[in-house]
Amino acid sequence: MSQRGKITLITGASRGIGREIARVMAEEGSDLVLVARASEDLEKTRLECVELGVRAESLPLDLGDPESLEKGIHEGIGRLGRVDYLVNNAGITRDGLLIRMKREDWERVLTVNLTAAFIVARAVVPSMIRARSGRIVNLSSVVGLMGNPGQTNYCASKAGLIGFTLSLAREVARRNITVNAVAPGFIETSMTQGLSGAARDALLTQVPLGRLGTARDVAEGVRFLLSEGAGYLTGTVLNISGGLHME
Ligand SMILES: NC(=O)c1ccc[n+]([C@@H]2O[C@H](COP(=O)([O-])OP(=O)(O)OC[C@H]3O[C@@H](n4cnc5c(N)ncnc54)[C@H](OP(=O)(O)O)[C@@H]3O)[C@@H](O)[C@H]2O)c1
Repeated sequence: MSQRGKITLITGASRGIGREIARVMAEEGSDLVLVARASEDLEKTRLECVELGVRAESLPLDLGDPESLEKGIHEGIGRLGRVDYLVNNAGITRDGLLIRMKREDWERVLTVNLTAAFIVARAVVPSMIRARSGRIVNLSSVVGLMGNPGQTNYCASKAGLIGFTLSLAREVARRNITVNAVAPGFIETSMTQGLSGAARDALLTQVPLGRLGTARDVAEGVRFLLSEGAGYLTGTVLNISGGLHME
């Protein structure tokens, strides 16, 4: 319960990795602000966190609509007064080979995965600067480092998040705010549910640890980056891929 009294804002908290990050931060005692589009899943995550003994509120926002997001996130932050930790986790895929990719699929992925992280961080950072303390974790992906055919839009957004992380880390370090990224490999969530058995088997041959990751595997990395012990880490990319990507 080392995070009692802190407020953590997590985007994409309705399911998958975001839901698990909410649960680990609730285990740590942090109060939570859970962002996703309004849904039963979002309410379910909120109730699970409340059962773990923390205050949790939903902030239903569409990250694919920059204008309403900008308004909604400012209202939300204004009401809360401050956010100690921000986890930009929400993300989507709209896969296809470049020559067939529609511009709307390119733009939708860049808007939800990258522009929304910028808008939310810009809304949250002033309160961290005032507090002279804060942590930001951005959910990138190993494919943002390696590339992946059929995912030019997704990989561009995830590589973009790494550049965003490194630049913001340099901007705010003197204010005692750390900014790091997490780069998961293939994790079992609704995002990867569509993989055929054959595609899954082929993938597994590339993962030295021989299994897909779990949302918990990723959430544990985020728990660490938000822990007191990670206070001297900024501008890093934590690779959680079972060895799929090694540098
Ligand atoms: N799964 C993997 O293998 C993997 C690997 C590397 C990186 N990642 C990254 O990890 C993050 C979480 O992925 P996941 O696997 O947990 O995905 P997921 O199960 O598909 O969950 C995505 C989350 O993003 C939210 N979201 C999507 N569009 C949104 C929108 N327009 N407005 C607000 N919220 C929106 C969803 O909420 P609603 O739909 O309820 O609004 C949901 O909570 C993503 O950034 C993803 O790119 C995942």
